[in-house]
Amino acid sequence: MIYEFDAVIVGGGGAGLYAALEASKSAKTAVVSKLYPMRSHTGAAQGGIGAALGNIDEDKPEWHAFDTVKGGDYLVDQNAAKILADEAVKAVYDLEHRGLPFSRTDKGLISQRRFGGHTSEFGKAAVRRACHAADRTGHMILQTLYQQCIKNDVEFYNEFQVVDVIMNGTTCTGVVAFELATGELHIFKAKAVMFATGGFGRMFRITSNAHAYTGDGPAILARAGVPMEDLEFFQFHPTGIRSMGILITEGVRGEGGILKNGKGERFMEEYAPTLLDLAPRDLISRAIVTEVLAGRGVRGDGKIDDYVWLDATHLGRETVEKKIPDIQDFCKTYLAIDPVENAMPVQPTAHYAMGGIPTDTDGRVVNTNEAYNGLYAAGECACVSVHGANRLGTNSLVDLIVYGRRAGSHIAEYVKSAPAPVVPDDAAEPARERIARIHENRGKGGGNPGEMYKRMQETMMKNVGVYRDEENMKVALSDMQSMRQEFSTVSGQDETADFNAEILSLLELENLLDLGVLTAASALNRQESRGAHSRRDYPERNDDDWLKHTMASMDENGNVTIDYKPVDVSIWEPKPRVY
Ligand code: FUM
Repeated sequence: MIYEFDAVIVGGGGAGLYAALEASKSAKTAVVSKLYPMRSHTGAAQGGIGAALGNIDEDKPEWHAFDTVKGGDYLVDQNAAKILADEAVKAVYDLEHRGLPFSRTDKGLISQRRFGGHTSEFGKAAVRRACHAADRTGHMILQTLYQQCIKNDVEFYNEFQVVDVIMNGTTCTGVVAFELATGELHIFKAKAVMFATGGFGRMFRITSNAHAYTGDGPAILARAGVPMEDLEFFQFHPTGIRSMGILITEGVRGEGGILKNGKGERFMEEYAPTLLDLAPRDLISRAIVTEVLAGRGVRGDGKIDDYVWLDATHLGRETVEKKIPDIQDFCKTYLAIDPVENAMPVQPTAHYAMGGIPTDTDGRVVNTNEAYNGLYAAGECACVSVHGANRLGTNSLVDLIVYGRRAGSHIAEYVKSAPAPVVPDDAAEPARERIARIHENRGKGGGNPGEMYKRMQETMMKNVGVYRDEENMKVALSDMQSMRQEFSTVSGQDETADFNAEILSLLELENLLDLGVLTAASALNRQESRGAHSRRDYPERNDDDWLKHTMASMDENGNVTIDYKPVDVSIWEPKPRVY
């Protein structure tokens, strides 16, 4: 079937819904999503959304922008960070007016709590900036935006997996989507297409990311020749539930929770004497791994999968039940403990892709030196770049509402004068061939996708994790490249057309393998330590040679070429990060 819209938004999370809402003011808009929007990963964002409302402590957008730049180890594009912090305030009030049930202060204002790296007066003191709805902030954003989209007559195509983008030179004219219910391929013609497909943390063994987080948008565009920006910067959140990776929000530490090693020591005193347990995430994740490898984890065996404690027992029942109720539920469900009475066992978990599809501040996808027409991206799949080498907690929600909204408004204007989309008759053919190959491989004894998935997660976790070095990253790159080759031999067991979720998961695996190659190659290439990219063989940040964005492209054989783009440092001069 062929559908035609002014604007097609791929992905129904926070960025996609906000863009759809804005675009639908003047454009006939569809959201095409592999999930029902309410199941999008935005719903897993717990602790808050940063905005300098100053409801409890004095705060200013300028301080928020500075914290963002410093937290990102100066790889942040500074004008983009300024827009982020300035517009965060308006976006939060907009969400409030649309019905988002924020937690409240005693005076009835939006409640704000502490988060890592949030400071006043350019680093002088901690500030409460994270606006929150208990520990369900992302979930509430989804509910609010979805109902507004319904009101605005946005059309939803749920459980449609986009598998290809249709380009006419440098102009995007639509996408090809696989409908889960029927197995059919559909063409969505559009004057503007926006990708908002989220991250790709499923390439790691321990991750806070949903199963659906498989990098579909970035992989599709990388195959279409768009270079990917800064993929080497993948954030490990310090507090995932041991072995499972499920997120324990930084909001627990924001409310006063304390990290302790196996000896009961508050080890962050050693690593970040001022901000302690609320230092930026890269720093805390490294501190935990360092403690564990030194034999000061809970088991004390010095093995990388040992863990530490997150202690919230001193906060009292009332605070836990009121401020972090979902965390209490998760602990009861997954660990059979109550955080009111027991410390939580935690370890760093792969959480957030700082890099992704390169965009300008209107959400337009940009190559190293040119913008594409009618092609947009926002949210975690995009790189604008406001997170640089390490994202501050709460800035993911800020990013998706500020830049989702900006992309949506730009689309609304762009489609008014954009030409009607031209799509060739055979636009779905490459996707059809990819799916046919999976069926044709059946019975030929090719690669085992389940086993390949495990190998991918293992090698990425072990070799491109919190600490890295050349030898390990070379292993990861070679593993990923050979799995990518092997993928052409895999087949599914399920021959049916209807609800063939196996095809969907194989297409997702292919996306992860492509992005894994690009991530490992980008990491191997960057010979310095900066933010979340921490190399044992190059332990220092090196601004002389590496204050630049990576732009990585991959050919069809999996060979990666790296180019660079300058960083916008027009407001604050890069300085060493001290916390
Ligand atoms: O810890 C958290 O609640 C996560 C927030 C974020 O990643 O911004």
